[in-house]
Amino acid sequence: MSQGTVEALLWEPFELKMLDQRALPHETVYLRYTTAEGVAKGIKDMVVRGAPAIGIAAAYGMAIAAHEAATGNLDLKEHLASSQRVLAASRPTAVNLFWALERCLEVSERHMEDGGSAQDLAKILSEEAVSIHEDDIARNRSMGAFGAELIPDGSRVLTHCNAGALATGGHGTALGVIRSVVEDGKSIEVWVDETRPYLQGARLTLYELMTEGIPAKLVSDNMAGFLMSREQVDAVIVGTDRTVANGDVANKIGTYTLAVLCARHKIPFYVACPLSTLDLNIASGKDIPIEERSSDEVTELSGVRIAPEGAEAYHPAFDVTPAELVTAIITERGVAYPPYSDSLPQLLAKD
Ligand code: MRU
Repeated sequence: MSQGTVEALLWEPFELKMLDQRALPHETVYLRYTTAEGVAKGIKDMVVRGAPAIGIAAAYGMAIAAHEAATGNLDLKEHLASSQRVLAASRPTAVNLFWALERCLEVSERHMEDGGSAQDLAKILSEEAVSIHEDDIARNRSMGAFGAELIPDGSRVLTHCNAGALATGGHGTALGVIRSVVEDGKSIEVWVDETRPYLQGARLTLYELMTEGIPAKLVSDNMAGFLMSREQVDAVIVGTDRTVANGDVANKIGTYTLAVLCARHKIPFYVACPLSTLDLNIASGKDIPIEERSSDEVTELSGVRIAPEGAEAYHPAFDVTPAELVTAIITERGVAYPPYSDSLPQLLAKD
């Protein structure tokens, strides 16, 4: 499934290799997973991260679960249910996780109703996970093409966190749009927010862009306002972990601040959102579960303590940008504009 870009997930039935994103950009190490519980721990520990990649990893985790049942003579129904529970508990905000698990569950229930074996189900779930993975790349390519139309030649674009190949099946969502702009022959310069506290921008986005020779410069998160006030940003483009029915967008902590700054400076604020990240069951952003991570990730910088011993810290990992601050939501079926409560369901219904 090579995309010419870095690959977060490699699958050989029934072993999942995850690129350990905690070690990037200094080391490229793939860790091997042969149990569903191990995959869940890999997601929880951020070996793999980014909404679509989390969903894909979970789907492979379910294929592994069926294989475990077949080879270990476990009760198929029970083992699938417990594996699903463990995977679902790994991270709460990215809806792709629940979307992918739901897809696997439907396939499994159909198979079990027909009296199929664990061995056959393992093969079927492996195919399902591969199809989720391949679909994701195709979605990103299509989103990239729609998004690239919004970015004029010579733009300076700011992005936050990592919504690239590392966060998806390949190509990326927000970085997919940037890659598509480059593929279209347009010039682009990217401001990369370092993305405190976990530094996905500094460690991962910059790594992806530099590997491909796309012009990029690192800035710390608090520099965005200055850059905008000096007219050095033409657009902001970010990914999302869950976008809900009214168009409110959950994404990496710090995204909301950027959207407020964009409104102040009349700069377009774009969100790249595959339909697998859309959650129309939730009416507004206030009901999106926001993951709270360890305070150590705030008091330390890449494992090195920066705050006094005993300091308390708070670490919400995501924030919610209200729909009114979002210029457009780019999907694989086209670009949605406000009011999103009309345009998003219309795109979802489109074939
Ligand atoms: O905590 P992370 O690194 O999983 O957060 C990732 C993000 O916030 C991304 O912007 C989002 O998942 C979209 S990835 C295409």
